[in-house]
Amino acid sequence: MPTSRRKFIGQLAGSSLVSGLIVPETVAASFAPANKKSAADKINIALIGCKGMGFYDLENALKQPGVECVALCDIDDEVLTKRTADVQRIQGKVPVTYKDFRKVMDDKAIDAVIIGTPDHWHCLPFIAACQAGKDVYVEKPLANSIAECDQMVKATRKYNRVVQVGQQQRSGPHWKKAMEIIQSGGIGQLRRINVWGNFNYGIGQPKVPDSPVPKGVDFDMWLGPAPQRSFNSARFHGSWRMFWDYGGGLVTDWGVHLLDMALWATNTTTLPLSVAATGGNFAFADHAHETFDTMDAVFQMKDHVIRWEHNAGLQQGPYGRLYGLAFVGNDATLVADRGGYELFPESDNGKYKVPAIPKQSGSESHELHMKNFIECIRSRKDPACPIEAGRLVAAYAHMANIALRTKSSLVWDPNKNDFGNNAAANALIRPKYRSPWVFPAI
Ligand SMILES: NC(=O)c1ccc[n+]([C@@H]2O[C@H](COP(=O)([O-])OP(=O)(O)OC[C@H]3O[C@@H](n4cnc5c(N)ncnc54)[C@H](O)[C@@H]3O)[C@@H](O)[C@H]2O)c1
Repeated sequence: MPTSRRKFIGQLAGSSLVSGLIVPETVAASFAPANKKSAADKINIALIGCKGMGFYDLENALKQPGVECVALCDIDDEVLTKRTADVQRIQGKVPVTYKDFRKVMDDKAIDAVIIGTPDHWHCLPFIAACQAGKDVYVEKPLANSIAECDQMVKATRKYNRVVQVGQQQRSGPHWKKAMEIIQSGGIGQLRRINVWGNFNYGIGQPKVPDSPVPKGVDFDMWLGPAPQRSFNSARFHGSWRMFWDYGGGLVTDWGVHLLDMALWATNTTTLPLSVAATGGNFAFADHAHETFDTMDAVFQMKDHVIRWEHNAGLQQGPYGRLYGLAFVGNDATLVADRGGYELFPESDNGKYKVPAIPKQSGSESHELHMKNFIECIRSRKDPACPIEAGRLVAAYAHMANIALRTKSSLVWDPNKNDFGNNAAANALIRPKYRSPWVFPAI
């Protein structure tokens, strides 16, 4: 590595840890907002967090014309080796590999990053990328806390970045059609939105004892700002979602996709008037999970109710669907999931209030969502799921968890950005970062 580059990376670590900036202010300030790119301009992408969803996102990016993967970053050598071979197979060119995301930020040839790390590791690389003048596709939920989400919104707007949040349903044609039906009065006055997600994986892996860190894994970097602990395979790749330090369980994992549709349908841009939740950990004690296996959360809105329900370890649900939404109106109920939507009318004196709509099929929309991101990198427009939409629904999901964790009904104070005098709930708004990582200041 050239001396100047090594020196820069050294400075990067030093100054960022002291100031809370991930890249030094001098570097961040030197990046003007990127100019529009023409369709002919190549877009160089790096992926941070390569094992699961991040790599699927990258595959979709590489299907778009003019996109090249120039770098991969992961803390696990085995993942890096496998994904490097995968990328070579797809594009015929080998990307550079890194184990420390800060090195990605130093490479001015990189236009955009995909962040596919566990939820506790979204905020710092995201803000570093914004400061380094890169556009970002960040997986959902936007972050593992309300306070991190807020900093990510500020960073996006301060550094003029194009940010797509991985809530890909916003790019799904059948979801858009369902939204149009609801918004044009197709179900009459909307009063309630029932949202549910019952998934086996929500109970985590069978419990196992702690074990040595696998060879080639930088576990300290995997933990990052989360508390120090010994390695346990049941809270590592994939299954981290069921532990508070890294994720929020089914309501932040699947809940954000589905609750996002509830907020989108009603053009909601604010937090609920109040949130209450019931549930707990009632089942599968032989499986490793801290997040709730059984949960109901009720969001009081101005003129309707949003109700979330999950049952981890089960795969049955209302309307024969293990997950979905039912938009309940005076004239009809519209039921939707990723497979499509249908409309069940109410009747009056034996006559349907509105015509029934038989099942209209839909499909997954990951590739469309990535296509939209790439187009927006070129046009500098806000993508289909802008940062504010990612922040809003992540906050709803975190509020549901905080309500149940503190066994309290919560009211958000928008002026103070907290839960008023509820100290226990306020303590869960912002995580305590483990040194040397510093909560980012924007
Ligand atoms: N949009 C969707 O439909 C969808 C679906 C699944 C997952 N996700 C989201 O994608 C993200 C990743 O989930 P997953 O299931 O792929 O997790 P995973 O555990 O399978 O993969 C995460 C990868 O990140 C790596 N990593 C961890 N810390 C890192 C660091 N500091 N620097 C670089 N790499 C690091 C891990 O080694 C691993 O390879 C999560 O936020 C999840 O919620 C979204």
